[in-house]
Amino acid sequence: FNVPAARNEPVKNYAPGSPERAELKAAIAEARSKVLDIPQYIGSEEVFSGNKKRISPPHDHQHTLGYFHEGTAEDVKNAIDEALKARSQWSSLNWEQRAAIFLKAADLIAGPYHAEINAATMLGQSKNAYQAEIDSACEIIDFLRLNVNFMREIYEGQPVSSDGVWNRMEYRALEGFVFAITPFNFTAIAGNLPAAPALMGNVVLWKPAFTQVYSANVIMKVFKEAGLPDGVINMILVDGPAAGDIVFNHSEFAGVHFTGSTKVFQTIWKTIGDNISNYKSFPRIVGETGGKDFVLAHKSADPKAVVTGLIRGAFEYQGQKCSAASRAYIPSNIWEEVKAQMLVDLEEIKMGGVEDFGNFVNAVIDEKSFDKIASYITDAQNSPEAKIIAGGAFDKIKGYFVQPTIIEAAKPDYVTLCEEIFGPVLTVYIYDEDKFEEIIDIIDKTSPYALTGAVFSKDRYAIQYATDKLVNSAGNFYINDKPTGAVVGQQPFGGARASGTNDKAGSILNLLRWVSPRAIKETL
Ligand code: NAD
Ligand code: ALA
Repeated sequence: FNVPAARNEPVKNYAPGSPERAELKAAIAEARSKVLDIPQYIGSEEVFSGNKKRISPPHDHQHTLGYFHEGTAEDVKNAIDEALKARSQWSSLNWEQRAAIFLKAADLIAGPYHAEINAATMLGQSKNAYQAEIDSACEIIDFLRLNVNFMREIYEGQPVSSDGVWNRMEYRALEGFVFAITPFNFTAIAGNLPAAPALMGNVVLWKPAFTQVYSANVIMKVFKEAGLPDGVINMILVDGPAAGDIVFNHSEFAGVHFTGSTKVFQTIWKTIGDNISNYKSFPRIVGETGGKDFVLAHKSADPKAVVTGLIRGAFEYQGQKCSAASRAYIPSNIWEEVKAQMLVDLEEIKMGGVEDFGNFVNAVIDEKSFDKIASYITDAQNSPEAKIIAGGAFDKIKGYFVQPTIIEAAKPDYVTLCEEIFGPVLTVYIYDEDKFEEIIDIIDKTSPYALTGAVFSKDRYAIQYATDKLVNSAGNFYINDKPTGAVVGQQPFGGARASGTNDKAGSILNLLRWVSPRAIKETL
C-alpha cells in the first residue's frame, strides 16, 4: 500500500503585486465577460435541457454570469441508470486506479484550474479571494489527496490469521448507488461529497445547490479531465424534493451523503424511513447539518484574542459557515474592553463586491437568505430583550448586503442565541464573571445544535472544566481559537445532536461509511 504522502496544500496570500493576484484578477475579468452555459452531466452526455436558469453574483445580482440547464425527473432516472451501468467496472477497478484519478483531479485544481475555480467561487457564491482560496482550492485539494491516505488505512485493516487459516477482509463498494446532496456555502464540500464515495468504488448521483452550480461545473470538468469514467459521478441539476422523490424510492438506493440544513436532513431521513422496505440494502445515511456555534470567554481570557476569534469567527464569509461563531458568552470583567475593540475593528472592515480584494465582507447568497437574516435583525431592533450594538443595516439594491451586526441579548434564551441565522449576526450575552459553571450549563441547554464551540481562558482549571462539561455540545472544540477553519486531516470535522451524524468529513471515519466489508476465512 504505497500512496503519495499527503500534506495540506499551502494557502496563497494574494498579496498586492503578486503573480497569483494578477492571475486571479484576470480570471475574474474573463469570467465576468463570458456567458456560461452549464449542462447536467449524465453518463457520457452533457445534457442541455433548454430550461435555463440564470446565474448571477450575489453582490451584483443584475449581472448575468450565465445559465444552467435545469433537469427533470426523467434526467434523474437516466442518471440512476447510467450510474448503475458504470458500477460493476468501476467497483472492480484496483484501488490504485481510482486513487490516481482523484490525485490527478487534485493536481489539476492546484495547477491549471486554480484561478478558474477560485473565480467561480468568488463570483458565484460571493466569497472573497482569501476565503475562496481556503475553500475551493486548498480544502478540496486536501480532501482529494488525504482521502487516498485514509483509504489506504482502511485497506490495511486486516484481521489476524492462524496456522492453516488465512483471514482477510474485502472492502467492497455499497451495492447500488449513492446520492450526494451538497450545500451552497463550501465548494470543497460540494467536491468531496461525491468524490469520497466514488473513491471507495461507489457510483454517485450528485445534486449541488442551485446557488453553487458555477463552481460545481468546474469540479465536474476537473473530474472528467482527470479521467473519471462516464457514469461514475453524474451531476444532476434538479430541484431537491423532485430529485428526492425518484432517488429515495429506488430499490438500488444505497446511501445519502448530505450536507445542508437540519430541517432538510430530517425530511430526507423520514422519507428514507418511509421507504425502507423498498430497498435492497439498509442505506447509509450520512449528514452534516446546521450549527449554533459558541464562543465562551472565561474571566481570565485575553480580551484581544477573544475579539480576533469573534470577528473572524462570526464575520468571515458573512457568517455563512456552519461553524460560524454566532453566540458569545463574555464575562462582565472583560466585556467593556472586548466591546470597544470589536467596534474599532468593525470600523475598519469594508463591505462590497469580491472584485475589490480590500472588501472583507461580501454579499449573502440570495434574496431568501437576505430576507431571513434581515428579519432577525429587525426583530432585535424592536425587542426590549435585545440591543443592536454594531451594524444592523442591510440593503439589496445591487447585491444582498448585510452589515456585520452584533446584538447584545438581555436573556440567555433570546431567539438569536438559540436559532441558526446563517449570516453575519453575532449575539453576545454578558454573564457575571463568577458564574462560569452556570453559563456552561446554559450554553449546553439553549440550542439543539452541537457543531463547533470555543473556550478562551488562561486558567487551565477553567479550560479543563469547560472541556469536560461541554463534552456533547460541539463535535469540534477549540481552546483559545475561533471555532471555524477546520483543516482536513488536522481537525476532522462534524457535529452531533441536531448538527449531524458526526461522521467526520476528511477522515477514515467518513470513508468507512462508503464500504461494505466482507470477511473471508480460507482454510489452507
Ligand atoms: P439546504 O438544506 O437548504 O440545502 C442543501 C441541499 O439540499 C441543496 O442542494 C438543496 O437543493 C437540497 N435539498 C433541499 N431540499 C431537499 C429535499 N427535500 N430532498 C433532497 N435535497 C434537498 O442548505 P443550504 O442553504 O444549501 O446550506 C446551508 C446549511 O448547510 C446551513 O444549515 C449550514 O449549517 C449547513 N452546513 C453544514 C455543514 C456541516 O458540515 N455541518 C457544512 C456546510 C453547511
Ligand atoms: N470546515 C469548515 C470550518 O471548519 C466548515 O469552518
